[in-house]
Amino acid sequence: MKGLILSGGLGTRLRPLTYTSAKQLVPVANRPILFYGIEAVVASGISEVGIIVGETKREIMEAVGDGHRWGARVTYIEQDAPLGLAHAVLIARDFLEDDPFVMYLGDNLVKDGIAPFVEAFRREHPPCQILLARVPNPRQFGVAELRDGRVVRLVEKPQHPPSDLALVGVYMFDASVHEAVRAIRPSARGELEITDAIQWLIDTGKVVRPTIIEGWWKDTGKLEDILEANRIILDTLQARTEGEVVASELHGKVVIEEAAKIIRSVIRGPAIIGRGALIEDSYIGPFTSIGDGVVIRESEVEHSIILEGASVTEIGGRIENSLIGKNVRVYRSGGKPRAYNLMLGDRSEIGLV
Ligand code: G1P
Repeated sequence: MKGLILSGGLGTRLRPLTYTSAKQLVPVANRPILFYGIEAVVASGISEVGIIVGETKREIMEAVGDGHRWGARVTYIEQDAPLGLAHAVLIARDFLEDDPFVMYLGDNLVKDGIAPFVEAFRREHPPCQILLARVPNPRQFGVAELRDGRVVRLVEKPQHPPSDLALVGVYMFDASVHEAVRAIRPSARGELEITDAIQWLIDTGKVVRPTIIEGWWKDTGKLEDILEANRIILDTLQARTEGEVVASELHGKVVIEEAAKIIRSVIRGPAIIGRGALIEDSYIGPFTSIGDGVVIRESEVEHSIILEGASVTEIGGRIENSLIGKNVRVYRSGGKPRAYNLMLGDRSEIGLV
């Protein structure tokens, strides 16, 4: 069995971060979201992994490499334009051959992994198996209608959802999907939808097996989702201290990476402090990921993600529910007149008090 991980897409809802980086590389607990997906695929016994890349191909390839870190062999497949999930299957034809495969959307995070689902698919080999999760907002997803334990209808982002069962971004197929992705036409949003390809399978009499997942799952397209994912994943970490802690207090699950320094500060976990970071005269609150080489001085940060190389100094208040990009500097400027000095990239957002 093979794996096909989708890591194209523009990440428009995460601008400005995605002007300079791929959305799948935004870190959760200091590791790119995409890495959790690769791990989940590999942990289900798959070592041949194709990754679909688009405009952000260079960074993805640099971060992932040839996959040997995971014991996998990675093949990159280029998608010239984000023309849809079924289009990704279409262009992966040579890589996939006629093998069964699991398709995994690189911005999805399934906390408990996918091994039992892949195992069931291997055992029973239906033409297609989909994962579904109950959601409060089905209009934002592909939605399934079930009858007698089978999927009878799938609709993409419906105005009037037939159920609250959303399609999770993990799908398993046998070779019959290749005919399906060739048969369908682009949707109203101009994409070849995998939802339509699966509907085509249903319409031509193929069994589409649903599995409802009970564990935590997230499609991390927006800031709130990334912060939630960060919260859930941080909570699964084991406390460990490899850096230096001086005159400070650590409470709960706190990870201090190598060469990090914590001086006269309080850190309340779950939290992670990256390699070489410096936390001085500060408070780091629960659900916070501080990236490598970040400097926090005389400041308070809680429920946030601060990316590598950024600094927050003497802000005299607390940063909360925030995602701060690489090498961003947030500081108090002592000069007169007292005024905010800002240099913000396009589509940056700042909430002042
Ligand atoms: C895609 C699928 C949708 C699915 C979702 C899961 O949506 O089209 O059916 O529910 O992924 O993450 P998109 O993220 O492309 O809007």
